[in-house]
Amino acid sequence: MTRRRCAAPPITPPLFPVSESEIIVCQDAGELNRKAAEQFVALARKAQAANGRFAVALSGGSTPKALYALLASESYRDRIDWRRVHLFWGDERCVPPDHPESNFRLVHESLLSRVEIPAENIHRMRGEKDPETAAADYEEELRKFFSSSDAPRFDLIFLGLGEDGHTASLFPGSAALEEKRRWVVSAYVARLKAYRLTLTLPVINAAAQVTFLVSGESKRAVVTQLLSAGAASANLPAAKVSPAGGKLTWLITADAAQDLHR
Ligand code: 6PG
Repeated sequence: MTRRRCAAPPITPPLFPVSESEIIVCQDAGELNRKAAEQFVALARKAQAANGRFAVALSGGSTPKALYALLASESYRDRIDWRRVHLFWGDERCVPPDHPESNFRLVHESLLSRVEIPAENIHRMRGEKDPETAAADYEEELRKFFSSSDAPRFDLIFLGLGEDGHTASLFPGSAALEEKRRWVVSAYVARLKAYRLTLTLPVINAAAQVTFLVSGESKRAVVTQLLSAGAASANLPAAKVSPAGGKLTWLITADAAQDLHR
């Protein structure tokens, strides 16, 4: 595990069973978004040069909205060949695509409405459908796209982190955490009184690159629980993200990382 702070000494989180992992502590959300955007540009170029396309799964929630807007801005938009970018979602709320809670709507407003990406490259989870049907349909779409029986290897998966240690729509205690065969499942989240769709851990952990985007004082406790050496975090869903053949990056703002050991 390599640790880098954007402007501070390294920190000592536990080693993850991944081929490579790093924690980068950023001064603020602006720096976190710039680093995430630079990673997106670099990985898109690398994947498109290697196999003609870039397959990325986007996170929902509020944290990445500014990142998506930054990718659509003049600073980044023209540095990306959007014709060969394929956008997927790591999870979705079971609501219509124009619903205020929809992760698709969040990405459409901040990014899709501002870049020239082919409609067929936008792989939306159908939150408006019956959850089980939507999960099965999305898995079918993934199997067609990746034409693989093994777990699909996304070039990049962005993930958020909830204060309870959830990520994507993998919540503490969920049966979805034990799923070893299916790539996409639906789950009823009692705390939210709502159904969700989510990629499963076999898919997330098959990715070439997984990047957590974690920002704000509200995430301080869960970041400490997850990343401080010796802290008990094994049961937290986010602690189960360890891409065995890929790289794991934590982009964390200083206010969320302030209790991490140095
Ligand atoms: C979702 C996300 C979820 C989110 C975390 C953090 O659909 O809500 O996939 O996992 O990333 O809850 O959300 P914030 O970025 O809003 O704190």
